[in-house]
Amino acid sequence: MPIIMAKHAGFCSGVSRAVNQALKLAEKHKGINTLGELVHNQSVIDALAQAGVVANNLSNIVSKEVIIRSHGVSPQVIDELKSQNKVIYDLTCPFVSRLHQKVADYSENGLPVILVGDPAHPEIIGTIGWCKGQTYIVNTIEEASALPHIDTALAVAQTTFRKDLWQSVCEVLKQKVSNLSIMDTICTATIQRQSAAVELAKQADAMIVVGGKNSANTQKLYRTCKELCSRTILVERAEEISSGFADIKSDIIGITAGASTPEWSLKEVVTRMTDIEKMEQVTPEEVTSVENAVENANADFMAQVEATMVRIHPGQVIKGTVVQITEADVCVDIGYKTEGRIAREDLADQDVKLGDEIEAEVLKSKDSDGYVSLSQRNIINRKVWDELVAKYENHEVVEAVAKDVVKGGVIARINGVRAFIPASQIALRFIDNLEQFKGQTLRLHIIELDQQKKRIVASRKSVLLEEEKSKKEEAWNKLEVGKVVEGVVRRLTNFGAFVDLDGIDGLIHVTDLSWGRVKHPGDVVKPDQKVLVKILSLDEENQRIQLGLKQTSEHPWENIEEKFPVGSVVEGKVVRITAFGAFVELADGLDGLVHISQCALNRINKVEDAVHVGQDVRVKVLSVNPEDRRISLSIREVLADEALDTDLDDLAMPSAEVEVSEVEEE
Ligand code: F3S
Repeated sequence: MPIIMAKHAGFCSGVSRAVNQALKLAEKHKGINTLGELVHNQSVIDALAQAGVVANNLSNIVSKEVIIRSHGVSPQVIDELKSQNKVIYDLTCPFVSRLHQKVADYSENGLPVILVGDPAHPEIIGTIGWCKGQTYIVNTIEEASALPHIDTALAVAQTTFRKDLWQSVCEVLKQKVSNLSIMDTICTATIQRQSAAVELAKQADAMIVVGGKNSANTQKLYRTCKELCSRTILVERAEEISSGFADIKSDIIGITAGASTPEWSLKEVVTRMTDIEKMEQVTPEEVTSVENAVENANADFMAQVEATMVRIHPGQVIKGTVVQITEADVCVDIGYKTEGRIAREDLADQDVKLGDEIEAEVLKSKDSDGYVSLSQRNIINRKVWDELVAKYENHEVVEAVAKDVVKGGVIARINGVRAFIPASQIALRFIDNLEQFKGQTLRLHIIELDQQKKRIVASRKSVLLEEEKSKKEEAWNKLEVGKVVEGVVRRLTNFGAFVDLDGIDGLIHVTDLSWGRVKHPGDVVKPDQKVLVKILSLDEENQRIQLGLKQTSEHPWENIEEKFPVGSVVEGKVVRITAFGAFVELADGLDGLVHISQCALNRINKVEDAVHVGQDVRVKVLSVNPEDRRISLSIREVLADEALDTDLDDLAMPSAEVEVSEVEEE
C-alpha cells in the first residue's frame, strides 16, 4: 500500500509560533488565557489546556496576561483588553497583521473594502475592525455577483482562502467595481498546502485529510481534495479511519493536513494505515514483528515529513519574504516551521517593506523566543570581504577614503572595511605630513589580507608605480626614431640637457644642441623651456633616448650657395684668428675664412692688426665650395667698396647744391 504524504502538510509557521509561545508563557506565568481557541484542533487544544493554556472570551478572562491568537483581533478588542489592564501577548500571525495593515491603510480616507472570506471566521471578524470605511464580505462567487455596483474598492482575501476560488471571485468583482484594487493576501503556507494537496489528490486513489473539522483551512483542503478524488475523508483522529475505507493492498493513499494539525496527529494516521495493512496480512503469531514494522513505518514517515521541511543551520544563507516589521526587528517567512527574525542592527536595508524578498544568514536556528535568528549584515559583510579577497588575488585597484592618521601610517575604509596604509606605501617618495591625505579618496592595492583576523594592509605607492609604468609604456609606444616631438627641459648638465617627453627623460647632448659651438647647454636652452626635439635613437631596454635640437633646423651648409651667393655682403663675427687669416661666423656652425691679405685695405703684418676676436664685421663672399665646406670672405673688398661709395658721394654733392641754387634763382 503506497502512502504518500503531501509535500506541505501540518502546522504552518504562524500556528507553530503561537503554540510554542503560548506553552512558554503558560510556564512562565503558571497558566495563561487565550482570547478564543489558539488553533482549530481539539487534540492541540487539549494538550495546551494540560499545559495551562486555556481559551476564554473577552468577558471572562481570568489571567492577568492574555494571548491574542494567530487569527488576530480588531483594534477595538485590544482597547477593551487594555481597559481591563491586561498584559497582552500578541501572537497574531504576521500574514494576518499584514492584512490588517493593508485594509487600514487603504480605508484611511473611508474607501470601502471587500473582504473575501468566511464572515464567521475570527480572522474576518477581527479584520472588519481594521477597516475604516464600508466593508463588504463575500465568501462565494454568487455572493460576489450579488454585490451592488461600487465605484472604488479594495479586495483582499482571508489568508487561508482557496486560491482558485479567490481568482474566480476577483473576476466577478472586476465587473462590479469600476476602480478595483486587488491585493492577494492569501498566505504562502496556505498556497503551498493547497497546491501540494491538489497535486497529491490527482494521483491518489483515496485521500485522508487530517485536521479539526471546525478549521477553515482544513475544510477547504478537504473540499479541494474531494473535487479531485471522490474517496476523500476528513478525520480528526486516526481511529476515525475505517479498515474498509480503501483497498489497502493496491490503492495509492494520499495524506494531507491543515495548518492547525499537529505532527502527532499525522503520525497517528500513518500508523493506523500501516496497522490496518499489516493486520490484514499477518497471523496473530506475527503481531510482534508487525509492531516492529509499524515502528519502522513511523520512522519512514518521520523521514518523509522531515524531507519536506526546509533545513537550516547557522551560517546558511536563505531567502524569505518579509511578513512583519516592528521598530525592533523584521520577521521573515523562510518556509520553515518557525519564522526568521532579523534584529534592526542586523538589517542592512532599513527601508525594507512587507512582501519584500530578502536574503539573510542564519545565526541561530532558534532564538530565545523560538524564532530563527537571522542577519542581513553578515551577508553584506561577507560579500564585501569576498569582493576584497577577489580584488586582492587579482591585484585589482580598490578605492578607499583616508579616515585617520595613526603612528606609522594612515587608516582608510574600503567599502566600510578598515585598512592600514604604512607611511612608506602612501606615495612614491617619503612624505612627512600624512594629514594631507585625510578625507581623500585613494586608489590602493591590497598588499596583505587576513580574512580571519579581518586585517588589510594596502599600498598607494604600488598603484602609483604601476600607473607611472604604464604611462611610460604609453609614452614609449608613441616614440619613433626620426620623429620630432615636444618636450620640456628639466635639467642641465655640462654634457647636455635632459628633456621630459610625457614622463620619460631624453638627453640632448651638448653637441646636438646647436650646429655651432656650445660652451655650456645653458647658452642654448633653459630649464622648463618647451622645445621641439628630434629623436635620434631609442634604447627601451636601458631606458635611453638620444635627442637632437639642432637637427630640427636646416644644416648650415644646406643650400649654402643660395644663402650666401658670391659677391654678396653679409655680417659676421670674428670667432678665431690664425696666422693666415680670421675665421668669421656667418651663422650657427658656418664659418668662413678672411685671408690675411683680405683683412684690410693696406698690407698688414699680422691679422690682429686689422681685427680681433668677437668683432662684428661686414664681409664680401668671394667664393663658396660646398664639397670642401669652404667659404672665402673679404673685409678688404667691403672697405674698398665703401671707400669708393664715399668718393662718389663726395663728387655728387656739389651738383646737388647747384640744382638747389638753380631752383632758388627761379
Ligand atoms: Fe498564518 Fe497562514 Fe498559518 S495566515 S497562521 S501562516 S495558515
